[in-house]
Amino acid sequence: MRKLIIAIDGPVGSGKSSAARRVAELLGYTYLDSGAMYRALAWKALERGVPLDSPDQLEALASQTRIDLEAASAAPGSARGNALTGLRVRLDGVDVTEAIRRAEVSQAASKVAVVPGVRRLLVAEQRRAGRSGGVVMEGRDIGTVVFPDADLKIYLDASVEVRAERRWREHQQKGEAIDRARMIEEVRERDRRDRSREASPLVPAANAVVVDNTAMDVEETARLIAMLARDKEKKGI
Ligand code: DC
Repeated sequence: MRKLIIAIDGPVGSGKSSAARRVAELLGYTYLDSGAMYRALAWKALERGVPLDSPDQLEALASQTRIDLEAASAAPGSARGNALTGLRVRLDGVDVTEAIRRAEVSQAASKVAVVPGVRRLLVAEQRRAGRSGGVVMEGRDIGTVVFPDADLKIYLDASVEVRAERRWREHQQKGEAIDRARMIEEVRERDRRDRSREASPLVPAANAVVVDNTAMDVEETARLIAMLARDKEKKGI
């Protein structure tokens, strides 16, 4: 059976990461989080005091940075919860997996991601990482730019309130106190930046399957995607 390239795109809080991870687990594929690359670079820019409004400096920083996603493939059908497919993010050899999830890094990442030169470098890395197939890659432009010929393209979406609520819960669980109303505003602001930027704006690919999971949980979303993937694997499309 042919190993597919599965692209999962969608706005913040649409459940891409959890769904993509679980799909990878169900299929025995490798999970790749392209957003983690933008986050890692943003983290480095914040650490070094590189201005987030300087495209030239950000591009130079990207060209001097090595980002490794260490993904582990899980066995097909393995039990949920005990071994969600792991992904460690290394920046110039340093593990930044947890550091890049902080709220200020989220905002900074969406600023770094508007720079075309940064995108060019990171997209090349993403293509290298996914080209042999058997991957579930999530992001904003995977089905439109990174892998326009992906075997299966999914665009996940949900209402802004539900997306903000999901993010709010994530921060709560990490002990980061964030006001709910402020979270909705932040999600709206990141939506605006992701959708209106000139370089690779967030839009569903023409042939993407659009899944609104406002009323679906991770497991339902992931099983739906895995079912579509298995169908493609069998047909060898
Ligand atoms: O999915 P995320 O929240 O971890 O992504 C962080 C930021 O990176 C987000 O603001 C959008 C940007 N991003 C992007 O522009 N293109 C991608 N393929 C992935 C993420």
